[in-house]
Order: sequence, then structure tokens, then C-alpha cells
Amino acid sequence: MSEAGVSTLTLAPPGAAPYEFEVSTGWNRLLSAGTISRCKASSVFLITQLGLESIEDSFLKGSGLALPPERIVRIGQGEAAKHINVLGPIFNQLIRAGIDRNSLILALGGGVVGDLAGFVAATILRGVRFAQLPTTLLAAVDSSVGGKVAVNVDGGKNMVGAFYQPVFVYFNQSLLASLPESEWICGLAEMFKHGLIEESGRVLTNLRASVGRLRTADSPELRAAVLDSVAVKAGVVEQDVRENGLRAVLNLGHTTAHAIESATAHRRFSHGAAVSRGLATMLLLSRDVLGLPPGETEDLLAAMESFALPRDTAGLSAAELLEHMRFDKKTVAGVPKFVLLERRGRPIFGQDVSEEQFQQAWSEQAERFGAHE
Ligand SMILES: NC(=O)c1ccc[n+]([C@@H]2O[C@H](COP(=O)([O-])OP(=O)(O)OC[C@H]3O[C@@H](n4cnc5c(N)ncnc54)[C@H](O)[C@@H]3O)[C@@H](O)[C@H]2O)c1
Repeated sequence: MSEAGVSTLTLAPPGAAPYEFEVSTGWNRLLSAGTISRCKASSVFLITQLGLESIEDSFLKGSGLALPPERIVRIGQGEAAKHINVLGPIFNQLIRAGIDRNSLILALGGGVVGDLAGFVAATILRGVRFAQLPTTLLAAVDSSVGGKVAVNVDGGKNMVGAFYQPVFVYFNQSLLASLPESEWICGLAEMFKHGLIEESGRVLTNLRASVGRLRTADSPELRAAVLDSVAVKAGVVEQDVRENGLRAVLNLGHTTAHAIESATAHRRFSHGAAVSRGLATMLLLSRDVLGLPPGETEDLLAAMESFALPRDTAGLSAAELLEHMRFDKKTVAGVPKFVLLERRGRPIFGQDVSEEQFQQAWSEQAERFGAHE
């Protein structure tokens, strides 16, 4: 549905009230369209991030929301900012500022803010409503959709969390004008992944057709591609909200990506750059293990190039990645499982891949796309 300046997709996760994913090029619709006022909240709280001051400013001015300082929480940067240790002072601030069961928490930021704010909302007073205002492409197409909220502990990333759906998502796409290149890659890699697992092929075709305009923050092409991508993820989540099976297809490329991140101590690459390399590996493995037609494999690898998604192996060896995969939290009994494609749009999860097959695909990737960044 589209009305002046705002496009809306209704998402209906099982076990939760349906909610709207709204995209606009400004903030005006957030209040004037009644998105916040429809919630009839007793009070509104904002969780955002240090470093996003100009976005916070534009949000407060543009939305017309008057928030006293005690109702605004600004977390730090990076994964440390969503460590369980930061929660105590945040809970205390919100309680001292008078949060009650009818309050609304707004999460303004990327996935780090959204995951943490969602976890706070899921647990404070045993649950208050929250809404996502994603400001990165990854947050818009991935972390704000699906209801997974989590914090990190010393034992691992996202190890403590909940399934907790927002009451709405509002994406002001113009904010992406300030997004650094590495963060675009993070979002685009997930959008490409959504295109790979979508059955009709329409999503990937549209994505490819609009490639030249995708990185223009307020373009209609970006808006359409974001809505397509959200619909793919939401469609999978609706069938398996608690990840008992099918939702695993969203991990396409991620087993390898997590190993790349772990082998480089989460310092060398953004998540998207690791996912992108993992997707290239999965295309080669899908051809070798599940018979993805070679022509289709080549076409999809070429599409990655057109989105400027990295496909090289960054000088890492297959042996070290396999070693890191053994310790991945999704690995069962030391044997990594992969999502592979039988055809584009037909992902199969829980696939075994032998060490030799992985090594072979990784060597081919290094030969064809380079072993160094
Ligand atoms: N819940 C889920 O289903 C899910 C899915 C995928 C990822 N995640 C989580 O999301 C997190 C990653 O999210 P992310 O990629 O958005 O990273 P992020 O939240 O760390 O944001 C990346 C950087 O971009 C900055 N930023 C945000 N918006 C900006 C803008 N408009 N202009 C300029 N800079 C901006 C941030 O301050 C930060 O420095 C991880 O913690 C990951 O675990 C969750």
C-alpha cells in the first residue's frame, strides 16, 4: 500500500499482533500519520547511540516529539554496547524516569541499538511495547524484522535474548545518505541473500535492474528493494518464527561468515563483508554438492560483482575456517551444517559438506576472485 510519501507493508508474525513496516523519506508521517499516537502510550522513551546525534536531532525536530533528557538513553558503539553488563544503568534510568507497562520504547539506530532496545523492552516490567526506527540498511532489511532481540555475554554474541516483536517499524530512508560504504555492503549482502532464497525470482530481478540507483538514499528504487527484502524475510519468519526449522535458510552464507569473523577476531571485516564472501562460497558449494546449474552459479556470482559485493578469500585458509566452524554456536556435535541452494529460490538447510568439498570450493574462490583483500 502506498499513500503520499509513505509505503507500508503489514507483517503478521504468528503469536503477535500484526504490525506495519513503514518507509518514508522524512519523519513527518511518524506523528502526522498517527503511528506513534495510535499506540496511546502513557510515555515515550528513546534508546539511541552516541555518534548518531545529527540523526537524533533530525528525529526529534522532524517528528515533533518532545522528550525530556531522562527519557533518552544513548548507548556506545559496537558489540560492546550491547553487552549484558550495560543493562543495569539503562533499566535504572528508565525506572527512575517513570516507565510503566503502557510506555513505548523507540529504538533509533542500527542493529546494535535495535537488538539492545528490544531486549530492554522485552524484559523491563516483564515487557513494554517497542518500535524500531532503523537507521542502517542492515537494520531496515534484517535486524528490525523477525522479532529476535538479544544482548551479548562473555560466552558469545547474541547468546541471551528473546523473540519479541515491535509494534511498528518506521524506516526514514533518507538517513542512509550518511551511511559509510562498509555499512551499505552489510545491508546489500543480506538483500542479495533474500533475493537468492526467494522462489519467484522477482526480488532478485528487480534488485539487479535497479542496481545503479540502489545506493541513492531517497530513491524509489531503494525503497522498493527494501520492501521486497523485508517481505522475503517476513515470509520466512511467518512460517517459523522461533527458528525450529525453515528460518535457518536465512543463515545462507553465515556459517562461513561467522568463521571468517571469528578467525579475524571480529576486527578485519564488517559482518556484511564476511557474509558476502560466505555467499560466494555457498554458490560454489551449491553447484558441487547439490547440483545448482553451472550457468546459474556463474550468473549469480556475476550479480555479486555488479553489487560490488566482495567474493575473495582475504588470505584465509580453508583449514582455519573449518577449525572455527567447529566452535560456532549453531554447530551440532562439531559438524558444521550449511544452507545450500538446489536452484535459485530453493534453499535447503542442514546440509553436510565434507572438509574436502569445502577446501575445494575455497581454493576455487581464491583462484578466481583473489586470495587477498
Ligand atoms: N535481530 C536480528 O535478527 C539481527 C539480524 C542481523 C543482525 N543483527 C545484529 O545487528 C547488529 C549489526 O547491526 P548494524 O549492521 O546496523 O550495525 P551497527 O548498529 O553497529 O551500525 C553500524 C554503524 O553505523 C552507524 N550508523 C547507524 N546509522 C547510521 C547512519 N544513518 N549514517 C551513518 N552512520 C550510521 C552506527 O552508529 C555504527 O557505527 C549486530 O549486533 C547483529 O548481531 C540482529
